[in-house]
Amino acid sequence: MSRAASRHTWSNRWAFILVTMGSAVGLGNIWRFPYLAGDSGGSVFVLMYLVCVAVIGLPLLMAEILIGRRGRGNPVAAMLNTAEEAGRSPWWAALGWTGVVGALLILSYYSVVAGWIADYLFQAVTGARAETAAVAAEGFTALTSDPLRMMFWHTVFMILSVGVVARGVVSGIEAANKIMMPSLFLILFLLMLYGAWVGDMPSAVHFLFDFKVEAITPRVVIEGVGQAFFSLSLGMGAIMAYGSYLDRNTGIGGTCLWVAGANTLVGLLSGLAIFSLTYGYGLSPSEGPGLILKTLPLVFSHMPGGRVFGALFFLFVLFAAWTSSISLVEPFVSWLTERLGIHRVKAALVTGVPVWLLGLAVCLSFNHWSDVTIFGRDLFKALEDLTTKLMMPLSGLAIAIYVGWMMGRAVVSDEIRLTHRRFALWFGVLRYVVPIGIVMVFFHVLGLLK
Ligand code: TRP
Repeated sequence: MSRAASRHTWSNRWAFILVTMGSAVGLGNIWRFPYLAGDSGGSVFVLMYLVCVAVIGLPLLMAEILIGRRGRGNPVAAMLNTAEEAGRSPWWAALGWTGVVGALLILSYYSVVAGWIADYLFQAVTGARAETAAVAAEGFTALTSDPLRMMFWHTVFMILSVGVVARGVVSGIEAANKIMMPSLFLILFLLMLYGAWVGDMPSAVHFLFDFKVEAITPRVVIEGVGQAFFSLSLGMGAIMAYGSYLDRNTGIGGTCLWVAGANTLVGLLSGLAIFSLTYGYGLSPSEGPGLILKTLPLVFSHMPGGRVFGALFFLFVLFAAWTSSISLVEPFVSWLTERLGIHRVKAALVTGVPVWLLGLAVCLSFNHWSDVTIFGRDLFKALEDLTTKLMMPLSGLAIAIYVGWMMGRAVVSDEIRLTHRRFALWFGVLRYVVPIGIVMVFFHVLGLLK
């Protein structure tokens, strides 16, 4: 049997859509999206995000899956195999490495934030209350100034994430997504209804959708692109790794429409639910990274059935984070198993331990080590900026150039299998619009980094 034939694949097309949605829908949609929207003036940011998802995100999502499936291997091998096929330099494998390493860097702080959510879930279940806004805000400060408490939940979350990946692609990753993703949609639906009932939905709609084109600024554009990359899990090997387990008969285009559509919808719907509750209780939308943690406990303490809904809400966020974090573990695990031939369980451990250690340092960056800075940022912010503002857009740019200009039109169209017209549109956008868009944004980022 050839290597390609022996490679296992997802059970069916829907399984792939579900796991890719699982990777995409995460803290990015529920924690990052509302806080960025709150900080960057709401609707303008939302508009930029929507434009970037359609014009840059969707074409790149297709390109990344294409590389993974054509290359039939972990991100490094997929880059090597496709580069060899196209007669290009093996140095392109560096792009695979950026992805693998970038995914691990993201995981180190992602797991810490997911740990906050686990802590809040625990508090909601045990009936902790925050009667006033001050108490709710203090609750968040109390958490971030207690490194041991954060380390505990970070450790729990790392074990959960690594554990699923250790169980395998179909029996671990796919199985976990099949349980968590439908539950997540159900919980979100309930929360929406509830937010509309007890909250202030008109203000939320106004805040998120009242588009004012004249309010667009470079900063909002940059945040919008960054968020499009982050929420679609782009440029970090995760999607490439998942794409490598996709069978050759599944159409990539339609699949990606489902993923990008559902991902955007979850962001918008949770934004609506969160802001209608935030406004309903007279709170401010611009609270920074602590937004949902500072405002929602207060809301849940006062609304009817708040304890149950609070617990459901944090469970929803935790599920979303969990299905994303496993996609950050997979790229390096697949490299270790395929390249070094070590067992998946061992590979998951080898991956998890260094990330866990880095995460411990991230926990300290909120308190004891808050004055240790890298380029003027604490470790948490430094890792977040390095991955979302530098690594993701640069890898995205490289992927667009690689698929658009290096792999060769014949190979690309054979793999993507779109109708003639759709192919021309997608390929044109990938070759010109995506690179130019990213470069323009990037110059602004460099200006901001000064
Ligand atoms: N997309 C996820 C979220 O929105 C985070 C994530 C998972 C990610 N895998 C990724 C981000 C790979 C960038 C790259 O929460």
